[in-house]
Amino acid sequence: MKRGLADLDVDGRRVFVRADLNVPLDGSAIRDDSRITASLPTIRDLRDRGARVVLASHLGRPKGTASPELSLEPVAERLARTLDAWVLLAPDSVGPEVERLTRDLADGEVLLLENLRFHPGEESNDPDHVRALARLADRYVNDAFGSAHRAHASTTGLAHVLPAAAGHLLLAELRALDPIVQGPPRPFAAIVGGAKISDKIALLERLATTADLLILGGAMANTFLAAGGVGIGRSRAESAADAVAAIRAAAAASGCRLVLPVDAVVAPEAVADAAPSTVALDAVPSEAMILDVGPASLTTYAAALAGVRTVLWNGPVGVYELAPFAAGTLGLARLLADVPAEVVVAGGDAVAAAQASGRADAFAHLSTGGGATLELIEGRDLPGVAALPEG
Ligand code: 3PG
Repeated sequence: MKRGLADLDVDGRRVFVRADLNVPLDGSAIRDDSRITASLPTIRDLRDRGARVVLASHLGRPKGTASPELSLEPVAERLARTLDAWVLLAPDSVGPEVERLTRDLADGEVLLLENLRFHPGEESNDPDHVRALARLADRYVNDAFGSAHRAHASTTGLAHVLPAAAGHLLLAELRALDPIVQGPPRPFAAIVGGAKISDKIALLERLATTADLLILGGAMANTFLAAGGVGIGRSRAESAADAVAAIRAAAAASGCRLVLPVDAVVAPEAVADAAPSTVALDAVPSEAMILDVGPASLTTYAAALAGVRTVLWNGPVGVYELAPFAAGTLGLARLLADVPAEVVVAGGDAVAAAQASGRADAFAHLSTGGGATLELIEGRDLPGVAALPEG
């Protein structure tokens, strides 16, 4: 296990905390602050222990240039309100002015650096940039589980030049996801939705060999259905017959049962004012698009899940962001809340649906990671974790 915060002397020290505060924004309004909330235990612990917190994150993908629309200002405001404390936003993430601000911090105070990715050296893990960041602190804590699959200056570089430890969120994510990686209590069911199979081939191949049951939904199920000769009208699908065949072969070889939707919510277009109808999967009109799973699919999923002990859910089973096509994903969240198994949820839309179900407490774990969680489950090493010392 990685060294935790408890083993780092932080009292009166400037502690660089790499968090993942990459929250979804509508303009400057935060749509979901889960990642801010999830970062609080580490920030609070450090403040309580008299650390001078130098907090840092990326936001979006500004690709090495300062982009005012990706400023962390909304995050600083939300954090100050949530912590009920003063949070100063630095004008940049490196440089003499920022160094001065870190030296002026009092014990327990929080300085939030501006978006780390405004500098190209962050993503290239440039040694000079690592040294510039290191001048801002005496200790390093990585709590950015959602960015642990990136080998950037703030996620790996700093771990090699400052006394380092893992934050509470990062350790909690590893503890919760480790059983899925190592071999969870069986039967183990994986439910994978989302738009594209091409983004998740490695994940699906891995799950086809590790899970007992692989339930598919979303547009990626269309790709499986089309490859099996089912008429899917004008639905979104990929030409990925080889990937489908490889996943089917891996599942067959390991005795993993594949479960596909049996009905569909269809409409001529994926628009917010659509008037959808529900049809059986052998009756999708040629001019229609499949945009959600129907109630019969949820019943099929529920029957397949009887008796499972572990469930991993990633990806929506319909176009969750549009109200007429959100019912399947929300229904799945409610169904999973009632399944007497350890249910781990990963990925923005699935986590949002689990929260919207009003039953968030019924889930064993809601992961803050997107790509990081999937890479971990695929069995890959996360550079941000690998760089941290063992405890
Ligand atoms: C995420 O949202 O998955 C993380 O914050 C990582 O963001 P990135 O894919 O832009 O590196």
